[in-house]
Amino acid sequence: MGRENFGSKLGAILAAAGSAVGLGNIWRFPIETGQNGGAAFIIIYVCCIIVFGLPIMTSEFLIGRYTHANTAGAFRIVSNGSIWKWVGRLGVFTGWFILCYYVVVGAWTLHYTYLSVTNAFNEVPAKQYENIFGDFVSNPWIPTLWLFLFIGVIHFVITRGVQSGIEKSAKLMMPTLFIITLFLAVCSISLPGASKGLEFLLKPDWSKVDSTTVLEAMGQAFYSLSLAMGCLCTYASYFDKKTPLAKSAVNVSMIDTLIAIMAGFIIFPSVFNIGMDPNDVGVGAGLTFVSLPNVFQQALGDGSILAVIFSTAFYFLLFVAALTSAISLHEVATAYVTEEFNMSRKKGATLVTSTILVLGTLCSLSFGPLSHATLFDRNIFEMFDDLSGRFLLPIGGMLISIFAGWVLDRKLYRDEISNGGDLKTPYFKMLIFSLRYITPIAIGLVFLDQMGAFNFLK
Ligand code: PHE
Repeated sequence: MGRENFGSKLGAILAAAGSAVGLGNIWRFPIETGQNGGAAFIIIYVCCIIVFGLPIMTSEFLIGRYTHANTAGAFRIVSNGSIWKWVGRLGVFTGWFILCYYVVVGAWTLHYTYLSVTNAFNEVPAKQYENIFGDFVSNPWIPTLWLFLFIGVIHFVITRGVQSGIEKSAKLMMPTLFIITLFLAVCSISLPGASKGLEFLLKPDWSKVDSTTVLEAMGQAFYSLSLAMGCLCTYASYFDKKTPLAKSAVNVSMIDTLIAIMAGFIIFPSVFNIGMDPNDVGVGAGLTFVSLPNVFQQALGDGSILAVIFSTAFYFLLFVAALTSAISLHEVATAYVTEEFNMSRKKGATLVTSTILVLGTLCSLSFGPLSHATLFDRNIFEMFDDLSGRFLLPIGGMLISIFAGWVLDRKLYRDEISNGGDLKTPYFKMLIFSLRYITPIAIGLVFLDQMGAFNFLK
């Protein structure tokens, strides 16, 4: 059987946007924005996307579409088998690795959707939310059951193939995600006192901006756009020859940023409505599973039908966002094993699923029975998270940009990005300049920042 392609341009963009829009948009971006100068941060973030997000995304698209192969195969082809082929393998490994802990959080969103729908947060005292979350994640069984369900859904989609699985699900889930986001944002904005929340999110405050803010914006842009883990390269290998690469990259980035900003419209008006200090809400899991359930109950009326609807919609939104990202990560690994080891899609997907069932369970149990298994004070989940976020992603991103800027044949790049001369590419020189100089240096700085090299500035 020949290799499948996406059936339409829209499907291709929605699938790639599904990869990009994930937990990072909802549980990190709004908080980072609020605490780092509001609109000032958003402006810096958008600049980061333009200056180095788009060039890398376009390059990943280009390498995937040119080769029509999985990420490892793609880099082997474009590097003519030289040492650069390892960049593709690194991408596959990184994606696979991230998936192992990403699915754990995906499973948590399912549990919280369930708790919301059953009105389990009714009349829970504010202090209790931390215990609810703590008891849940340390339970040996319940998170694992949700984990298996979450992975089961991913497996189902992946085994159905590129068009009837990934594309069809993206066409269903991305509009759903958008509608839920819009609904929640409108509800939250219409709460009394919401304007203070919007002000916190949007009022530009340049006094809060320093060099570390810029580094933070870069790190966030990188993660949020799903760069350097093979997802975009793999999806682009299913693009047809007419898909405009640079324009698709712009579209995906715009969707991703829009959803991230709208997530801020959901969170802060509610937080301000109940008079909570936005600096106390936390970030990541603490924000999502401890602060927000309480905020939603209080803002919309404890145990009220509105609170049930709002909270359910919010956790379902997180679930959908996590699912589409997890599917893209799974596809990186599935495409790799099927093509490199000549397996059927079903066998390849089953192999990948089995590995994440095992490693995902270990990550999940690391908050309970396996919490003693630590290295450098980090449990298994945190090790996966740290290793991928701090090391693998920046290193992979830097290598991709260096490869695309310095090694990849310039004529090939130009031919491919202009779809064989059909499209005008006035940005071409800028793009290459960024790939050669700006991006590698920028990522190098982010890397050093994450290693703590600039702590003295903070
Ligand atoms: N971009 C996703 C987010 O914002 C994260 C992600 C990472 C998705 C890796 C796919 C691959 O949450």
